[in-house]
Amino acid sequence: MIADSLTLPNGTILKNRIVKSAMSEALGDAGNNPTPALIALFARWSSGGAGLLITGNTPVDRMHLEHAGNFVVDGASDLTLVRELASAAKSGGAKILAQLAHAGRQTPENINPHPISVSDQRLDLPGYGEPKAAQTTDFKAVVAKFTDSALLAQSAGFDGVEIHAAHGYLLSSALSPRINTRQDEWGGSLENRARLARNVVRAVRAAVRPGFIVAVKLNSSDFQKGGFDHKESVKVAVMLEAEGVDFIEISGGTFETPTAYQHTSRSQSTAAREGYFLHYAAAIKSAINIPLMVTGGFRSKSVMDSAITDGKTDLIGIGRPFITQPDFPNEMLSGQLEVAPTVERDFPPSDTLPRGAVLNWFCCQLTLLGETGTADLNLPLIDGHERYLEKIESQTKQLLDARRGLLPLGS
Ligand SMILES: Cc1cc2nc3c(=O)[nH]c(=O)nc-3n(C[C@H](O)[C@H](O)[C@H](O)COP(=O)(O)O)c2cc1C
Repeated sequence: MIADSLTLPNGTILKNRIVKSAMSEALGDAGNNPTPALIALFARWSSGGAGLLITGNTPVDRMHLEHAGNFVVDGASDLTLVRELASAAKSGGAKILAQLAHAGRQTPENINPHPISVSDQRLDLPGYGEPKAAQTTDFKAVVAKFTDSALLAQSAGFDGVEIHAAHGYLLSSALSPRINTRQDEWGGSLENRARLARNVVRAVRAAVRPGFIVAVKLNSSDFQKGGFDHKESVKVAVMLEAEGVDFIEISGGTFETPTAYQHTSRSQSTAAREGYFLHYAAAIKSAINIPLMVTGGFRSKSVMDSAITDGKTDLIGIGRPFITQPDFPNEMLSGQLEVAPTVERDFPPSDTLPRGAVLNWFCCQLTLLGETGTADLNLPLIDGHERYLEKIESQTKQLLDARRGLLPLGS
């Protein structure tokens, strides 16, 4: 049940099964260091009762950010601030993982017009540049960057890292036969397409201490014609287990197919709305012996408890309710709350809205929660969406100004 502790393969004990999944906070400063708002947000979440917190997208390469406001853990980071972040995240008894990522071709164009990717295939969305197909030396540099970030995160007090191999970022795109059209040792067979993710995991695992958690977020499928599919996902999970990961988190989709953030209508049954990747996770669960975390749609305690007792998952990953009610785990674990907030269900279907509007509304709420301590649930959907687009524009300008030396880092 969600209140039970879980011992990971490396011996770390998580006090319960509720995990705050990664949500890109965009609360880094122009030098990509944690701001006081980001640190306060993690202290808040830690006291909210979850057993494990995972930071939002934490790029290993400043030229391959997912958002100008990402915080980065590398040699140029202010490690005092990174340490403060880790300590705030642990202050309430949660464990904390940094979600290490390389955005690949999903790096916004104004951050990098020619990002490294697995091929030169461009993302089919506006705002993304023309990628350069990586050479073997680039892949080796990527592996080294993941390893360096993991070591720095360890020295800053993080309990572990989650390597982001889902949602269409570099490691995920390498897995996809649709995007990875290479004919060298990094493309073709599944073995070759999985080489980058495996090499990253192997190098990180070898570098960190045995008690440091190394997890991976993997797509159950890209949900794209000719893309990384469910059968391949099961096989990659087995390969990752062999590399010594402590758990695998299952999600799905890419920027082009944003299935990770489904918001299904009220007319669907609770089972269909909740745990929408559980069905896919079943085959993975039976193929591996390490713990599994499934993320996406979980809201009801009864659904979470039965997913665990039925052996479908070991950890329950939850995102959006941590924005709208950051301390919901405490209430749920004490029996006061049966259903976490389901704000997303009140919005109209995505195909009737501007692209990304619901996600942007949540991103805007995340900023408000960090900066003011409370979300504003009365904020109209389009206002939140537009406010967030303005925030992206101003943070990107600040980042570019800082890069040109026009703005002091840390402002
Ligand atoms: C505002 C926001 C930002 C997100 N950022 C990330 C991210 O940085 N990395 C990631 O792996 N998933 C990210 N996600 C996906 C969540 O981790 C989660 O998979 C998704 O929200 C589905 O879970 P939920 O239905 O409980 O919200 C984000 C989701 C939201 C709403």
